[in-house]
Amino acid sequence: MSRLDSFIRRMTAQRDILNHICENVKDMEGPVIELGLGNGRTYDHLRERFPERRIIAFDRALGAHKSSTPPPENLIIGEIRETAQRFIGIDAALVHADIGTGYDEKDAVTLTWLPDLAVALLAPGGIIASGLELQHSVLEQLPLPASVKPGRYFLYRRIV
Ligand SMILES: C[S@@+](CC[C@H](N)C(=O)[O-])C[C@H]1O[C@@H](n2cnc3c(N)ncnc32)[C@H](O)[C@@H]1O
Repeated sequence: MSRLDSFIRRMTAQRDILNHICENVKDMEGPVIELGLGNGRTYDHLRERFPERRIIAFDRALGAHKSSTPPPENLIIGEIRETAQRFIGIDAALVHADIGTGYDEKDAVTLTWLPDLAVALLAPGGIIASGLELQHSVLEQLPLPASVKPGRYFLYRRIV
């Protein structure tokens, strides 16, 4: 599969998954956490889906389109592993983590801290949508929408 096809499928999976979990997230209180603001496309999608919700976006540098740049109080710049520490216990309804690189060795380092951090940001019952597979004792894997090939994106609920 060409990288273009792979990119299109990843974007489609992100959109379908974020749409799929909307109703669950709407039923919960708590902010939405966007780990990896990037260009701001998924941030913009989340903002459209959850217009009343606080969405806090993290990235090591601001690279978002001007129209998709969060207000300063909801934009956290720096290494997520460090900057997110002060948000632990915020009881987020949703954590969306799109910080995979496509390089196994780099993603393996991220996976040494991301599952614990994502759980610590999330309320019990909250949802994680992640481009990287997460393993954690309090996460149960949720079924993906039919349009998303298993392994392309991952969906979890914090059970306790
Ligand atoms: C694939 S992009 C996110 C794209 C975004 N979902 C969108 O729709 O535009 C991943 C982003 O995560 C950021 N990132 C990855 N690992 C990070 C880390 N450990 N700390 C801070 N930012 C990180 C990168 O700088 C990059 O901008």
